[in-house]
Amino acid sequence: MTLGGFFRSVTRIVGDIPRLPLRSIYRDYADYTMIPEPSFIRNLALARQFRGVPGAVVECGVWKGGMSAGIAEVVGRDRIFYLFDSFQGCPKAKEIDGIRAKQWQQDIDSPFYYNNSSADIGFSQEAMRRAGAHHVHITKGWFEQTLSGFCAQGGIAILRLDADWYDSTMTCLVHLFPQVNEGGLIIIDDYFAFEGCALAVHDYLSRNRHAICIQQFENDFCYLVKPRQARISEAPGLRTDSDSSAEAKRHSVE
Ligand SMILES: C[S@@+](CC[C@H](N)C(=O)[O-])C[C@H]1O[C@@H](n2cnc3c(N)ncnc32)[C@H](O)[C@@H]1O
Repeated sequence: MTLGGFFRSVTRIVGDIPRLPLRSIYRDYADYTMIPEPSFIRNLALARQFRGVPGAVVECGVWKGGMSAGIAEVVGRDRIFYLFDSFQGCPKAKEIDGIRAKQWQQDIDSPFYYNNSSADIGFSQEAMRRAGAHHVHITKGWFEQTLSGFCAQGGIAILRLDADWYDSTMTCLVHLFPQVNEGGLIIIDDYFAFEGCALAVHDYLSRNRHAICIQQFENDFCYLVKPRQARISEAPGLRTDSDSSAEAKRHSVE
C-alpha cells in the first residue's frame, strides 16, 4: 500500500484529515490524467471545499478518468459519479474554437496531443475501481447525444467540464448547468486555454441571464458557484435554457 493509500484508508475509518495528502492522490492517478500535478491538486483542493453539497459528481471529458477518480477520493466514494466521453478523442476544432485549438489539433507530434485526446474506456473503469467508488456510470459517445435526456439522480454537486471546444462546452452547460444543486461547483478546465470554451461560458451565462461571477482558482482554472437563484430575471424575449437546449441539439459534431 502506498503512503497515500494508507492515509486514505485511515480517512475512511476516522473521517477527514484536514490536509489529506493531495499530492499522493495525484501520484496514484498520474497515469490516468493529462492534467499536470499542480493543477490536479488544485482541482482536488477546490472540489474538497464543496463536499458538503449534496448530489452527484459529473465530469464531461474524462480521457482516462484520473481526475474523476481523484475527486472521488476527496468527496466520498458513496456519491454517484457520472463520467462522459466520446472515448475517441475531440471533434474537429472549428473557427470559433480559436487558433490555439486548431494548432493543437494539427500538431500531432506534440507530446500534448495524446492521439487527439482519445483513450479506451477501460482506463476510466480501472481508475474509478481503484478509487473504490461504488456508484459509477461511464457513458461513451458524443455529448450531443449522450447528454440529451440525461438526468443526474439527486442533482449535481460538482460538475467538471473538460471539453475543450465551444460546442462541447455549450452542450454540457445547456444540459447540465440546470441540474447543478444550489451551492454546487462548476469547474471549467479550458476557459483560459481555448477561446471557444470561454465564449461558450459567456454565451451560456448571458443568454440565460445568470449573473454569476466567473472565478479563477489560484491563478489556474475557471469555476462558477451556482447561487440560490441563478437567473436574475425573466425578461420578455429572453432565451432560456430550453431554447439553448434546442439550439445545442442543432450543433453537429464533425
Ligand atoms: C482534455 S481531455 C480530458 C482530460 C481529462 N479530464 C483528464 O483528467 O485527463 C478532453 C476530453 O473531452 C472529450 N470530448 C471533447 N469533446 C467531446 C464531445 N463533444 N463529446 C464527447 N467527448 C468529448 C475528448 O474525447 C477528451 O477525452
